[in-house]
Amino acid sequence: MDEIGLGLIGYSLIAKTHSLAWINFRQFFSSKYRPRLVGVCGRNTRATGEFARLNGYKRNYRDWRDLIRDPDVTVLDNCAPPNVHSEPSIEAAEAGKAVICEKPLGRSAEEAYEMYRAVAKTSQVHMTGFNRRFIPALLLARDLKQAGRLGRINHIVATMYNIEFGEGFGRPSIPLIWPFRREVAGHGAIGDVGAHIIDLIRFTVGEITSVSAAADTVVKERPLPDDPSRSGKVDVDDTVAGCLRLSEGAIGTISVSWLPVGIKDYMTLEVYGSRGSFKFSMERPNELELFLHDEDMRTEGFRTVLCDSRVHPLAGNFWPDQAGSYGYEQTFISEIAHFASALERGVQIESPGATFYDGYMACLIADELVASANDGKWHPVQPAPKL
Ligand SMILES: NC(=O)c1ccc[n+]([C@@H]2O[C@H](COP(=O)([O-])OP(=O)(O)OC[C@H]3O[C@@H](n4cnc5c(N)ncnc54)[C@H](O)[C@@H]3O)[C@@H](O)[C@H]2O)c1
Repeated sequence: MDEIGLGLIGYSLIAKTHSLAWINFRQFFSSKYRPRLVGVCGRNTRATGEFARLNGYKRNYRDWRDLIRDPDVTVLDNCAPPNVHSEPSIEAAEAGKAVICEKPLGRSAEEAYEMYRAVAKTSQVHMTGFNRRFIPALLLARDLKQAGRLGRINHIVATMYNIEFGEGFGRPSIPLIWPFRREVAGHGAIGDVGAHIIDLIRFTVGEITSVSAAADTVVKERPLPDDPSRSGKVDVDDTVAGCLRLSEGAIGTISVSWLPVGIKDYMTLEVYGSRGSFKFSMERPNELELFLHDEDMRTEGFRTVLCDSRVHPLAGNFWPDQAGSYGYEQTFISEIAHFASALERGVQIESPGATFYDGYMACLIADELVASANDGKWHPVQPAPKL
C-alpha cells in the first residue's frame, strides 16, 4: 500500500474540512493510497498540538519551513491565509512535494501567476481548493452547457453573499482580522468568497473577457484584535457589483458581499441560453432548476432536478441517494479524492479539479474588477499564457 505523507498548514476552519477529508476519503472512493498524517503547522503552538493529538498527526510545527523539510511529508495541503500561500507552496513543490492550496491562490494575479509558473516548472501535481466545482448539480449544469443543450448563452446572473459571522461582517464591532487587511488577504469579499463564484462562472459557462465594477468599503475602521480600544483601517472591499462580458458573447452581472444579514452562504448562479437555462443556489445544493425547450411547448417550464447519483456518480459515492446527502463536507472529500487520484495515476489535475492556473485566473478577474471600481472603466481580462 502506497502512502501519502500529509503536511497540513492550518488547524482552524478550512484546515479541519481538509483534514477530515484526508482521513475519510477512502471510505467513499477507492484509492491505493493511505494518507499518513505526518505533520500539522500553525501559529498557535498549543492549538496546533491539540489538533495534532485529536486527529492523530505525528508531529506539529510552528514554522512551515520545518513542515516542508520533514522528509516524510510528500504532499503539502496549504490552508493558511493568502499571505502564506505563495512561499510555502512554491518551496514545497521545489522540494518535490505535490501541493493543494486554498483559494484565493494569491493576493494578486501577479503573485498567483508566479506560484503557477514556479510550481508548474517542477511538474509537481498542483491544485487550487475550488471545492464547489465538485457539486453534482453544477457538474450537470456544466455538462449541459458543453453538450450545447442550453444553446447560445445570452445572460448570466451570479451572486455570492457569504457570511463568515452569524450576522455578517456588517457589524463594526467585528475586529480587524486578516480578511480585512490587504497585506494579508489581497482583496476583501471579491477575492475571498468571490473567488468561488468567479471560478464557477468560468467552470460552468466560459471565460470572462472583460469587466466593469463598483466597489465599497462600508465599515471603514475596525477594532484591533489585540487592543480593541484602538481601531485600524479596513483597506479591502466589503461589497462589489460588476458587469461581465464572456467569451461566447454572453453578458452578465456578478454581485459579491460579506455584509448581507439574514442569509447564509447565498451563492447563486443563473444562466440563460437560447435553448435552455439553469438556476443554482447553494442554499439547495442538491437541486438544479432547469429549463430545456420541449417539443411540446405546452409542457415547457422550469423543473427541479434532484441531483442524485443518476445525475453524477459523485453523488452516489456517499450515502447513495439519501435526501440531502451531498453538502459542504462532501465537496471537500470529493476534492481530496480527486487530488489523491491524480497522484495515484501520475497525472496533473484534470477537470473538474482546479489547477494553479485556474487559481490565477480567479485572482486576475478579481484584480480587474477592483481596478475597474477604482478607475470607472471597463477592463479587459488578459491572461498570461498557460505553460
Ligand atoms: N474553500 C472554502 O470553502 C474556504 C472556506 C473558508 C476559507 N477558505 C480559505 O482558506 C484559507 C484559510 O482560511 P481560514 O478561514 O481557515 O483562516 P483561519 O485564520 O481561521 O486559519 C488560518 C490557519 O493558518 C495558520 N497560519 C496562519 N499564518 C501562518 C503562518 N505564518 N505559518 C503557519 N501557519 C499559519 C493559523 O494558525 C490557522 O490555523 C484562506 O485562504 C481562505 O480564503 C476557503
